[in-house]
Amino acid sequence: MADLYYELRLQINPEMEDLIAEIFFENFDCEGVVLAEETYKDLEMVSTTEGTLKVFLRNEYGDSYEDLLYDIENVLDLSREEFLSRGLTEDELGSWEFILEEKENQDWSKKWKEKWDVTHVTDKIAVVPDWIEYQPKEGEVTIKLEPGCAFGTGTHQTTQLCMKALEKYMKKGDEVADIGMGSGILSILAKKLGASFVYGCDNDETVIDVARENAVKNSVECEFELGTADKVTKQFDFVCANILHFVLAEIMGDLKNIMKLEALMSLSGILYEKRDMVIEAYEREGLELVEEIQQDQWTSFIVRRVD
Ligand SMILES: C[S@@+](CC[C@H](N)C(=O)[O-])C[C@H]1O[C@@H](n2cnc3c(N)ncnc32)[C@H](O)[C@@H]1O
Repeated sequence: MADLYYELRLQINPEMEDLIAEIFFENFDCEGVVLAEETYKDLEMVSTTEGTLKVFLRNEYGDSYEDLLYDIENVLDLSREEFLSRGLTEDELGSWEFILEEKENQDWSKKWKEKWDVTHVTDKIAVVPDWIEYQPKEGEVTIKLEPGCAFGTGTHQTTQLCMKALEKYMKKGDEVADIGMGSGILSILAKKLGASFVYGCDNDETVIDVARENAVKNSVECEFELGTADKVTKQFDFVCANILHFVLAEIMGDLKNIMKLEALMSLSGILYEKRDMVIEAYEREGLELVEEIQQDQWTSFIVRRVD
């Protein structure tokens, strides 16, 4: 059985890649995902608008094809309903039509790895897949990660927007909170940029160990736990929250509460056309806009607590 695996090809809106990939990491024995139409240009990943997500599922427990198909249909139906009820539209999600195939193991994981390379987020920040030997340029901060295991591989625009905000606005010695830390990439970057203390939480229990392992891999200390902003009692100088727009709007009050007076927060995960919902929420909480940074169809806000 270990010689077999399942390959699922799912039609999605490529903008939603990571969100949809998370469904498979959370619910199945998922080894990795790739946007099938991805190509590389100058070491940067460039996705086509084709939008076929390839999902590699292990078959260690010998599930029959029909069992797995049934489970996938159920999980996708429930997830879709949840997204629609939270304000995403059918168009934003894509059709989610899929084909599931049982395949012989042809060392596909090696093939999958070949698709990844160093991601240069800025001139000074590079994310390096942990099987690649990379010699950083002078003054360059590198983060070693295993792509595809939890959200936060450094290739997604929403992650990069937060990384840019950290580079530009976080001060050495700042205490930093990373709400929805996923792989821990932002926490690790904050620590490498000189944060004195970094706390991260996530409401998905499957990412906590991944984030802890990534911190060890990068020789930094961060405090990671299962949780949400409303449970945090400490206040911070800089807060990162890269979570979808409707979640940001729901938890804006909790996010504000963990900011010290004059603290900054990077809000990311926002499709440009959904930005009004987030603006309304931070204005409601009396947070002041410092800068809006855009990348492709995504936007992010850096806001300050001024009350
Ligand atoms: C888009 S990923 C961001 C991961 C990483 N911080 C990055 O920038 O790449 C969002 C993460 O937030 C988590 N999340 C979603 N809603 C949350 C909430 N209300 N509180 C805490 N974490 C949440 C998800 O489980 C996911 O790991």
